[in-house]
Amino acid sequence: MSENTLSTAATGETNQRRILVTSALPYANGSIHLGHLLEHIQTDIWTRFQRLRGNECYSVCADDAHGTPVMLKAQELGITPEEMVARTRAEHHQDLLDFHVEYDNYYVTHSPENKAICEEIYHRLDDAGYISKRVINQLYDPQKEMFLPDRFVKGTCPSCGAEDQNGDSCDVCGATYSPTEVKEPRSVVSGATPVLKESEHFFFDLPQFEGMLKDWIRSGALQEEMANKLQEWFEEGLQQWDISRDAPYFGFEIPGAPNKFFYVWVDAPVGYMASFKNYCDQHNVDFDSFWKADSDAELYHFIGKDITYFHCLFWPAMLEGAGYRKPTGVNIHGFVTVNGAKMSKSRGTFIKGRTYLDHLNPEYLRYYFASKLGDGVTDIDLNFTDFAQKVNSDLVGKVVNIASRCAGFITKRFDGKLSDNILEPALLKEFQDASDSIANLYERRRYHQAIREIMTLADKANQFIDANAPWVTIKEEGKEAFTHDVCSMGINMFRMLVVYLKPVLPILADKAEAFLNDSLTWSSTQSALTGHAINKFKPMMQRVEMEKIDAMVDASKESLAAAEPAINPDSPLAKDPISEEITFDDFAKVDLRIARIAKAEHVDGADKLLRLELDLGGETRQVFAGIKSAYAPEALEGKHTVMVANLAPRKMRFGLSEGMVLAAGPGGEDLYIMEPHEGAKPGMRVK
Ligand code: 2FM
Ligand code: ZN
Repeated sequence: MSENTLSTAATGETNQRRILVTSALPYANGSIHLGHLLEHIQTDIWTRFQRLRGNECYSVCADDAHGTPVMLKAQELGITPEEMVARTRAEHHQDLLDFHVEYDNYYVTHSPENKAICEEIYHRLDDAGYISKRVINQLYDPQKEMFLPDRFVKGTCPSCGAEDQNGDSCDVCGATYSPTEVKEPRSVVSGATPVLKESEHFFFDLPQFEGMLKDWIRSGALQEEMANKLQEWFEEGLQQWDISRDAPYFGFEIPGAPNKFFYVWVDAPVGYMASFKNYCDQHNVDFDSFWKADSDAELYHFIGKDITYFHCLFWPAMLEGAGYRKPTGVNIHGFVTVNGAKMSKSRGTFIKGRTYLDHLNPEYLRYYFASKLGDGVTDIDLNFTDFAQKVNSDLVGKVVNIASRCAGFITKRFDGKLSDNILEPALLKEFQDASDSIANLYERRRYHQAIREIMTLADKANQFIDANAPWVTIKEEGKEAFTHDVCSMGINMFRMLVVYLKPVLPILADKAEAFLNDSLTWSSTQSALTGHAINKFKPMMQRVEMEKIDAMVDASKESLAAAEPAINPDSPLAKDPISEEITFDDFAKVDLRIARIAKAEHVDGADKLLRLELDLGGETRQVFAGIKSAYAPEALEGKHTVMVANLAPRKMRFGLSEGMVLAAGPGGEDLYIMEPHEGAKPGMRVK
């Protein structure tokens, strides 16, 4: 026998649980990026853990196919939405598989199963009196002949007057408003001025579910901080939810209501059911036993904090109203930041999954996210230096190193066989006894704590090897058996660490299983290998190289340029690209003023400069401006222009320059000073 049972401790759960897990469905009009991956990896680790424990656990996901943005993007590409969705779904699925994120089914919401379940839910809600109709006024694009979702309207903020703001909120002053309040609105789709148009909409009676929702939220289904957040929403009062959209819309038509479609957020969560239904039909699994009102199966949704409202109010209410079970838990996570800041396209930190895969091993990211993920909703920072350091030190330097330090001796000196003896049963028992605690941490999604415990064990294994120095004893007379025992202990500790890391690092675990000549499940930690033949050790993981990270960041900058609409090569933007994004606060520091050019003259000895005297309405400034190649001084006198009034004065060879005038163009004759519209007076602030 090659498995030596160390104790009779429980090896896992006695009652097999039945669990269905989902991740939020990625929209079918964009690529998978690191933000998505945090969630898919978090879900996949949890699912793999449940399976390793012997539970019956299914996981499903799908592409979220419907809605206006998908419809418009397909039009832009000149293909049908169905075609676009099919392409994106395949791309998303492959990206996820390459990160070793494996769903039992990766489907799409534009499916017959989803249509059927949506219709059924709608009929049940309608029959129970939860659906009403009401005429509303909405902005309509008369040119494109479509109603405009809020984000497809832009205009001037009704609160602060900032131009080019979104239809529902202002980035400058933070005000939120209805798109009908926006000044000088325009359609993002066609540029036309939208008009108000009436339309009958369907509403779901959310307020009727308030009592149920309050109970459900406190049932343990949500993290406490999120339950508290939802409490605020109850205090603001639940509203009727508008569940219909008018044609043209890519979605499912509402039964009995031609040209009215279900809003994408109705059929998206139903897509969880539909993806599972599609799986059940092919694999002979009992769908109803998971979804019936009194189901004893568990249902968990993993989502980001931005879509809490949909999953914690609308979705459980829809399920309840239609006679289905509610989620056992909605597990909410925060966003990904990179190097401490929001992912940025210009900095190259908005990284697509595929770009990452082109440069780095997916298991690095799985491990790094696991080492940072807890059960809360705080954002997770991917710091590249920390990332490289952690992977190199923990995985390459600690875990894999244990096997590589011991394997060679076993292969070369002991015929590839582990010893029959366990040298330090107490130490191995420590590894074994960690099983419950680590399992408990995975179960509660406290992956960072699980990783910490596992790495503490890895440190102990390395200390054991250091203390017994098999590379020394192997050369000593009479120490053969001892060396054999030490290396076998090392391999057994490595084996247990691999089990504990298997939900996070499935490929490393595969390689370790091949090396150990063993297949590992959670209960494998309760036994040790003795007298067991192992295979030759092969390197299992390379170190992270900083150059590869740099290359990935560079490629992310490039892939953005490629993804953006092509810039005409003759455009000034092609030669002089737009600079890195700044915040409003950065911009607000620049004090721009209207100035009248009171006097302009040549400067002796300067070939490019003109000396200007600028009247600011209350004071006069001297500015040396490099515009001589484009302007004769007399042509400038009396004109109004724009100057930077708070630029620190600069001492030049010809005198002090107390500001700067604004001019555009590449230079030479091709240079143009800014001239304000008639009516602007010297000293006025430019905003
Ligand atoms: O926010 C999103 O990306 C949505 N596509 C998530 C949908 S999750 C579910 F409800 F389908
Ligand atoms: Zn504003």
